[in-house]
Amino acid sequence: MKKIKVGIIGTGFSAEAHIEALRRIPNVEVAAVCASSKPKGLAFAEKMNVPLAYNSVDDLVGNPDIQAVHNCTPNWLHFDMNKKVLLAGKHLLSEKPLALSSEQSAELVEIAGRQDVVSGVSFNYRHYPMVSQVREMLENGQRGKPSLVYGGYLQDWLSLDTDYSWRLEQDKNGPSRAIADIGSHWCDTVQYVMNRKITKVFADLKTVHPIRKKPKTALNTFASGGQVERENVEISTEDYGSILIHMEGGVQGVFTVSQVSAGRKNRLFFEIVADGATFAWDQEKPNHLWVGNRSKANEEWLKDPALLSPKSGALAHYPGGHQEGWPDGLKNLCLDFYRKVSDRSHAASFATLADGHRIMRLIEAILESHRTEKWVSL
Ligand SMILES: NC(=O)c1ccc[n+]([C@@H]2O[C@H](COP(=O)([O-])OP(=O)(O)OC[C@H]3O[C@@H](n4cnc5c(N)ncnc54)[C@H](O)[C@@H]3O)[C@@H](O)[C@H]2O)c1
Repeated sequence: MKKIKVGIIGTGFSAEAHIEALRRIPNVEVAAVCASSKPKGLAFAEKMNVPLAYNSVDDLVGNPDIQAVHNCTPNWLHFDMNKKVLLAGKHLLSEKPLALSSEQSAELVEIAGRQDVVSGVSFNYRHYPMVSQVREMLENGQRGKPSLVYGGYLQDWLSLDTDYSWRLEQDKNGPSRAIADIGSHWCDTVQYVMNRKITKVFADLKTVHPIRKKPKTALNTFASGGQVERENVEISTEDYGSILIHMEGGVQGVFTVSQVSAGRKNRLFFEIVADGATFAWDQEKPNHLWVGNRSKANEEWLKDPALLSPKSGALAHYPGGHQEGWPDGLKNLCLDFYRKVSDRSHAASFATLADGHRIMRLIEAILESHRTEKWVSL
């Protein structure tokens, strides 16, 4: 089998996760990595057993054998690098957010539209079997028309004022943090499940730690560090936000994001209220789906490919009772993406650049609503 050769830009958490996911796909080969420096690239290539290491995106995309690139760098590098990948005629899977502003993401959508390539954004929560099952149950309408949605995404890795990462710096992460980083996942997941877009927002944001104690030497993401020398820095991006939303089709709802909720690790959860049922899913218990009923017993669905619909069951790769989770969702995203690369007629589920651009507009609308204390329409 001739394999699709892929290059990975970045050497951190996301880059490793993408490489591991790709290694579980038969028709793909991770052929190169690209880092911020040659030594970093060589060390990462050796660690991950990848044959080629670059320290320039121009060199990576200049290799004619590389057909696709995953951009797993910090947010501030997404736009320039994504643009180079697209202009070089390579397939692109970009980490979220697609860019730092909707002006940049609009340009990427426009370029992608001119190139004969497959492009997408890594909104991986779409690709869980139980998430897909809710979408199908809502699609077939048997459980009634949805009217409400609520939930959130809660983490604790920034709950101490000594917690620090590049994500706290506006020039590297963008003008929004909790909303762009994790709120974007909630919005994409819910929009996908309900097959309708958020049209209007009213936001209230808070920076819980306006001053943080930054280590004088750099730490990896998600590492809080112990006894290191620190300096006080002002933080302008939000740790928390609660957002009222309106969606297409008359759906109303609310979601809360927080990166400072001690004990909450990656609690992306939603409840969708339809006329005949309430659907509840929690990313930390991804193989369960609760369906609440009014006039009969509630249902507890378990991930079991034999019991789910054929389409959703195909996202489960192990029999019922064997747990699947975050790495498996990313594998499903990569399977979907490379199926599209091999067969352009494939009806893919992954988030397109247009979806990523819409999320950028949504993030900006949320910031504007908080600033003006008004509803903002998209
Ligand atoms: N989809 C998801 O669930 C998910 C999860 C985590 C992170 N992400 C996204 O992935 C991206 C990276 O986050 P992370 O958690 O891996 O961060 P990280 O800090 O762990 O890794 C970032 C890496 O990029 C490298 N880098 C910096 N400049 C570079 C350059 N010029 N060329 C190549 N590499 C460079 C850094 O050395 C670092 O290793 C972010 O945009 C984030 O939003 C997405």
